[in-house]
Amino acid sequence: MKQNNIGAQNKVGVVAGDGIGSEVVTEGLKVVEAAGVKLETVPYDLGGARYLKDGTVLPDSVLEEWRGLDALYFGAVGAPGVPPGVIERGLLLRMRFELDLYVNLRPFRFPERNIDMVVVRENTEGTYAGEGGFLRQGTACEIATQGSVNTRHGVERCVRFACGLAQSRPAHHLTLVHKTNVLTFAGDLWERTFEETAAEYPDLETAYNHVDAACIYFVESPQRYDVIVTDNLFGDILTDLGGAVSGGIGKAASANLNPDRTGPSMFEPVHGSAPDIAGQMIADPTAAILSAAMMLDFLGETAAAAAIQTACDQIGEFGKQAESQTKPTLSGTATIGDAIAQATADIVAGHRGRAQ
Ligand code: IPM
Ligand code: MN
Repeated sequence: MKQNNIGAQNKVGVVAGDGIGSEVVTEGLKVVEAAGVKLETVPYDLGGARYLKDGTVLPDSVLEEWRGLDALYFGAVGAPGVPPGVIERGLLLRMRFELDLYVNLRPFRFPERNIDMVVVRENTEGTYAGEGGFLRQGTACEIATQGSVNTRHGVERCVRFACGLAQSRPAHHLTLVHKTNVLTFAGDLWERTFEETAAEYPDLETAYNHVDAACIYFVESPQRYDVIVTDNLFGDILTDLGGAVSGGIGKAASANLNPDRTGPSMFEPVHGSAPDIAGQMIADPTAAILSAAMMLDFLGETAAAAAIQTACDQIGEFGKQAESQTKPTLSGTATIGDAIAQATADIVAGHRGRAQ
C-alpha cells in the first residue's frame, strides 16, 4: 500500500450498493467531510441490482483496480430476486479472500448498558471457505457436505491480531469463543493456537466460552467481555446478536481488515440492504457512519475518527427516538446524519481551538 504523502488524499472505492446502502453511505461521507477529512472517492456500481441488470458481480479488472486503492467503503449489497450466494460468494467473500481481509472487526459500544466489547471474527476460513459439494443431487440419496477449513496460519494470525488489540485496551481481556466440546478437530486447533499465542502476551487475562453459552452472556451480561476472538461462522452469528443487544443492528459497524496492509481494507455496516424499508429514508445511518470512522482510524486520521465516535455517542439518544417513531419521518436518515455531522464538526472545531 502506498505511503501517505503530506497533502495527498486517500483514494477510496465506494460501493453504495442496494436498498438502503446508498442512503446510509451518503450520510457516512457527509460526516467524513464534516470531520475535515478529504477523500478521493471512486464510485463502483456493483451489487444485486447491477447483477440483475447485466450479470456483473465483480469483474477481475475491478478487483485489480481495488488493489491500488487505500480503502473500500460499502453501504450494503443484496437484492430480492438474486439467487442466494451470487453476491455473497461472488462479491463479498471473493473480496475478503482475494484481498486477504483476514480480520473482521466488529466493535459494540453501548454506554447505556456499559457495553464496550469488540469481536475479532476470522474472515477467510471456516465454513465460509466453500469446501464441500453435492453427490447425487436431486435424488433420494442426495449428499451435501459443507466442510470447515481451519489452518494454523489462518487461526494464528487472527488470534495474534486479537491479542494485540486486547493488549492495547485498558481491560487487557481476551475471550476465545468456539464449540470445542463438539467440534473437536477445529476446536482443538483453535484452543491450542489461542493458548500458545496468548502466552506470548503475559499482560493478558484470557477466558474461554462455548458459543452457545456466549449467546446467553451476550444477552445477560455482555459487560463481562472486552475482546472476543472466534471463527468465521460463530462470529457472523454472534455479531448480529451483539448489534441487537447494543442499541440495534443499525448501529453496528465493521471493518474487514488486511492488517498487513498488502492491499486496501474494507469498511461496511453489519446490516444488509433492508429492501423492506429502502427508499423511505428511515434507515439509521449510524452503522455506516461508524464504519467510516473505523476507516479513517485505519487510514491514520485518528482524531477525526475519535470525533465521529464521540458525536455518535452524543446523538445516540436522538437516534433512538427516531427509530422508535411509529410513523417514521421521511427525513430520518438524513436528519440523524445531519445531527452527527454537526456534532462532529463542533467537536473538531473545539479540538482545533484547544490545540491552537
Ligand atoms: C456479514 C454478512 C455476510 C457474512 C454475508 C452477506 C456474506 O452476513 O457480513 O455478516 O455472512 O459474512
Ligand atoms: Mn452477518
